[in-house]
Amino acid sequence: VDKVRIGIIGAGRIGSLHAKSIQSNIANGEVTAISDVVVQAAEKAARENGIPMYAADYQTLLKDPKIDAVLICSPTNTHADIAMEAARAGKHIFCEKPVDLSVEKILEAKAVVEKCGVKMQIGFNRRFDHNHKRVRDLALEGALGDIHIVKITSRDPAPPPIDYIKASGGLFMDMAIHDFDMARFQAGSEVYEVYAHGAVLADQAIGEAGDVDTAIIVLKFLNGAMGIIDNSRKAVYGYDQRVEVFGSKGMAAGRNDTPSTVEFAGAECVTADKPLYFFLERYMESYTAEMRSFINAVQNDTPVEVGIDDGLRPAIIAQAALRSMTENRPVRCDEILRL
Ligand SMILES: NC(=O)c1ccc[n+]([C@@H]2O[C@H](COP(=O)([O-])OP(=O)(O)OC[C@H]3O[C@@H](n4cnc5c(N)ncnc54)[C@H](O)[C@@H]3O)[C@@H](O)[C@H]2O)c1
Repeated sequence: VDKVRIGIIGAGRIGSLHAKSIQSNIANGEVTAISDVVVQAAEKAARENGIPMYAADYQTLLKDPKIDAVLICSPTNTHADIAMEAARAGKHIFCEKPVDLSVEKILEAKAVVEKCGVKMQIGFNRRFDHNHKRVRDLALEGALGDIHIVKITSRDPAPPPIDYIKASGGLFMDMAIHDFDMARFQAGSEVYEVYAHGAVLADQAIGEAGDVDTAIIVLKFLNGAMGIIDNSRKAVYGYDQRVEVFGSKGMAAGRNDTPSTVEFAGAECVTADKPLYFFLERYMESYTAEMRSFINAVQNDTPVEVGIDDGLRPAIIAQAALRSMTENRPVRCDEILRL
């Protein structure tokens, strides 16, 4: 096929973003249908992005023989069930993170997807970010030597609405899940132990909803490396996304992206631009890159770059982190699931 035909399930923030990026930037893909339980949202995304068909129910997309692949961009608690239905309908799948809040459910989806023989890519877009990817490429080229330390700073500019927090699965599953994926990606190794500390320091309402807004997470990898992640739901200066990898031969570190690199120097102070505000600004290019990678994998029948095991492992780490914080002790990943 010269164009992979795509149906999008869920026309909210991320579904609309993928629709726009495919329609305007990816020559070998086209969105031919979009669905949302709120049909007005599907209609709006279809109109704005030149998508010829919209529907309230995603089954219409799964039944359409002209659709090669679906993007699952609905809320997290629907991902695994829709993925299993899509696999049984023979559609390739791109699924937003996390695959599910339950490790057991992810395993169930993995079994069905593998049995049906369709591709499934997970939406860990940060691997495709120009800075984070450059750090990893340096390690792959051998420039860093043996990897000893992975340091990830990952702070949001402002907390999401409290209703979002309540349904999110908590900071580890919702937010740090990206960082757990990044940690595995940068270390080139699996995490076997987690020691997590969390606190409510930025927003009392998050504490009242049973979650934390600030965390420090220490990781141990099978290759001997160690990792540290620091998270906050509220960095007053904007989205703070930095990765540093330290090894026997050197160190690589990315800075935040800013609207410009201009520094102003005056009699009183030196100032610079704040980081780009949030994920829609900072990671836009990476969303297009991950989608290009998925569409190429479908078109050329090659393996996806971020597969279902990459969806499973961070969920295990997230559950280990939650147990570690709750019980105030290091927790091995195989306490959650022995792989
Ligand atoms: N990779 C990333 O950086 C990133 C960023 C944002 C969100 N996400 C993930 O994407 C998912 C969606 O997040 P969002 O921010 O776009 O949420 P959102 O609430 O903006 O959009 C979700 C949409 O799905 C629709 N929906 C609900 N049930 C549906 C169903 N059964 N079929 C079709 N549509 C349905 C809702 O009406 C809504 O329009 C979440 O799992 C989230 O974790 C990932």
